[in-house]
Amino acid sequence: MIQTIQIAPPDDWHLHLRDGEALECVVAATALNFRRAIVMPNLRPPVTTVDQAVAYRGRILAAIEKACATGNYTVEEKAAMRRFDPLMVLYLTGATSPHEIEKAANSGVVKAVKLYPAGATTNSDAGVSDLLGQCGAVLHAMEEHGVPLLVHGEVTDTDVDVFDREAAFVETVMRPLRTRFPNLRVVFEHITTEQAATFVTENSGRDSQGRLLLAATITPQHLLYNRNALFKGGLQPHWYCLPVLKREVHRKALLKAATSGLPQFFLGTDSAPHAKHLKEMSCGCAGCYSAPYAMAMYAEAFEQVGALNDVSLFEQFCSLNGPAFYGLPVNEGAFVMQRKKFEVPTSLPFVTESGIVPLRAGETLDWTVTRLV
Ligand code: DOR
Ligand code: ZN
Repeated sequence: MIQTIQIAPPDDWHLHLRDGEALECVVAATALNFRRAIVMPNLRPPVTTVDQAVAYRGRILAAIEKACATGNYTVEEKAAMRRFDPLMVLYLTGATSPHEIEKAANSGVVKAVKLYPAGATTNSDAGVSDLLGQCGAVLHAMEEHGVPLLVHGEVTDTDVDVFDREAAFVETVMRPLRTRFPNLRVVFEHITTEQAATFVTENSGRDSQGRLLLAATITPQHLLYNRNALFKGGLQPHWYCLPVLKREVHRKALLKAATSGLPQFFLGTDSAPHAKHLKEMSCGCAGCYSAPYAMAMYAEAFEQVGALNDVSLFEQFCSLNGPAFYGLPVNEGAFVMQRKKFEVPTSLPFVTESGIVPLRAGETLDWTVTRLV
């Protein structure tokens, strides 16, 4: 049985860091585990311009400095945190211009543009209701400049069952999008279904520069849990995220995709912090906070299907496929985990007194992160 995992430092290709005090509470957890992260722009108001993205990146780096100055971290941990590189994303609206895309492509800071179908999830009301109808010129500019479109892939039609919204999105948006913009580079974010995994497996060609055209991120919760987790012994708000957990057959398809060694699947936690009292209420928020322990959870998922024996599969998913898609170098240094039991705290400090409940609070994990250098 493998006791130590050593891989190139991983990146998180889908992360919510929030802003202000919330940002200060969560940023260290990511910077201690990941070298880079694609930071989601669904703030209030959303990050819609390059200037806003540059300013937000500055606040993230300042929050890291503050954590280093005030937190109880070792010299090695502080050095790791200071190497964290936030990769920024613009929030697509009906008003996004082709000029802003060109500016983003030349910014060196903005790496992608995010589609939130209006009404699909947290802070998505400023999003787009008809992607192909509203955003043709912008998608064309993204295609031209090689700026990836990151997609929250759910239809928002309330007539469609909530568990079917991703599968419906594959047919009504993804397929036509690939046909109309064949050179647009797309990441299908936090996929949850067999339909999405199959679509990404079968439709990912390469552009003239040899770059993949279609990829997908997968979260730890969708690899480890099916929708039963939402109702186990009562309603479980801390397992509620969007897209919602699906049936076991879908979880199995995601595990197969993540451990396939195919270059189009990579790590994206979708770690999405919400205060405890805003999750445990009559209309609780969607989002699982997984960042501090996500790497242990991914290792557990890989081990479940015997895919940890060859650590290179794990490394591809966590540390190699993402950089290759984004045209970035693989991180130098090493990330090490030991097989050592670790109990997830039941609550962590957050903005309000209620704190934040991490995913799998109170449970014991098999792996402990020992080093990011
Ligand atoms: O569960 C989710 N939470 N899904 C999303 O798409 C957004 C995220 C958030 O921002 O809280
Ligand atoms: Zn997200």
